[in-house]
Amino acid sequence: MTGPSPPAQSMPPGRLFVAGAGIMGSGIAAQAALAGWEVDLYDVQQGFLDRGLSTLKKDMDRLVRKGKLTQEEGTRTSARVRGTLVLESAKGANVVMEAAPERLELKRELFRALDAVVPAQTLLGSNTSSLSITAIASTLRDPGRLVGVHFFNPVLAMELVEVIPGFRARPEEVARAVAFSKALGKTVTTSKDAPGFVTTRALAVLTNEAIWMLHDGVATREDIDTAHKLGFHHPMGPLELADLVGLDTMLSVLERLYTGFRDPKYRACPLLVSMVEAGLYGRKSGEGFYRYTPGAGGSGPRST
Ligand SMILES: NC(=O)c1ccc[n+]([C@@H]2O[C@H](COP(=O)([O-])OP(=O)(O)OC[C@H]3O[C@@H](n4cnc5c(N)ncnc54)[C@H](O)[C@@H]3O)[C@@H](O)[C@H]2O)c1
Repeated sequence: MTGPSPPAQSMPPGRLFVAGAGIMGSGIAAQAALAGWEVDLYDVQQGFLDRGLSTLKKDMDRLVRKGKLTQEEGTRTSARVRGTLVLESAKGANVVMEAAPERLELKRELFRALDAVVPAQTLLGSNTSSLSITAIASTLRDPGRLVGVHFFNPVLAMELVEVIPGFRARPEEVARAVAFSKALGKTVTTSKDAPGFVTTRALAVLTNEAIWMLHDGVATREDIDTAHKLGFHHPMGPLELADLVGLDTMLSVLERLYTGFRDPKYRACPLLVSMVEAGLYGRKSGEGFYRYTPGAGGSGPRST
């Protein structure tokens, strides 16, 4: 199922349940709240939830500082998002967006649990950046209702959403996923359910190649990033971007491409593997290819 996006009906704001309060979940929650949605932001531990809600609050404060929202609008938008550790809160949702870690079995288990809770008419979306939507959907009683809805990082700044129909997705659910993304102010492309879709496949190769260059001593991390920024007009270098995405997520994506295509060109650089094994996940853990000052938000790497 590829080709132009199906015609989208407009979707008025309703209730959104976001599963996973990490980098992407908090961003999707913020974007939806800005568009007038009431949001339940779900995670499995209070600490993760607190971190997601605090990121969201910082995003709103930033918009207020930039004059894009009044203080009152910022407060009202934050108040539309409630944190929850209770999966059953998804019961009243019009839309569920899953933004849990990039692990197939974890996502399948989560959707199995959601399937027992959400009504038949709720739209189900997964924000996976590389996993098979078809394999995630096959865990549902009705696999036709799940659609890949791939937001980009940082959600508030990035215009694109890739919509990915699984093998058995119903066209009307795909149209709803497009309408939902547009209602959040995004531009939509659709792609087949191939590993990494369009964007992640390209990004993974570029990033992995940059890590190989660092591993091989071709250039310093700064020169690799500067060369991409100035040579290709990329807003961030690939190593900075890998830190932003999360090195654990980058590695999961490469493993998915490697096994999905059975092609050695996707083999993850051993430096990336070692860094993930060492717990160096990038910005979210405070250190990746660069070190980050706690609370510095989007201010970029501290060069150490
Ligand atoms: N980071 C990116 O740049 C990016 C971009 C696009 C898409 N994605 C995709 O979005 C998804 C989330 O990525 P992220 O970067 O936000 O990850 P993250 O590690 O920042 O956040 C994941 C969150 O999910 C929570 N979680 C763990 N188990 C859970 C469960 N069973 N149910 C609900 N939540 C659970 C974790 O506690 C964590 O807070 C992944 O599928 C990833 O591939 C990531």
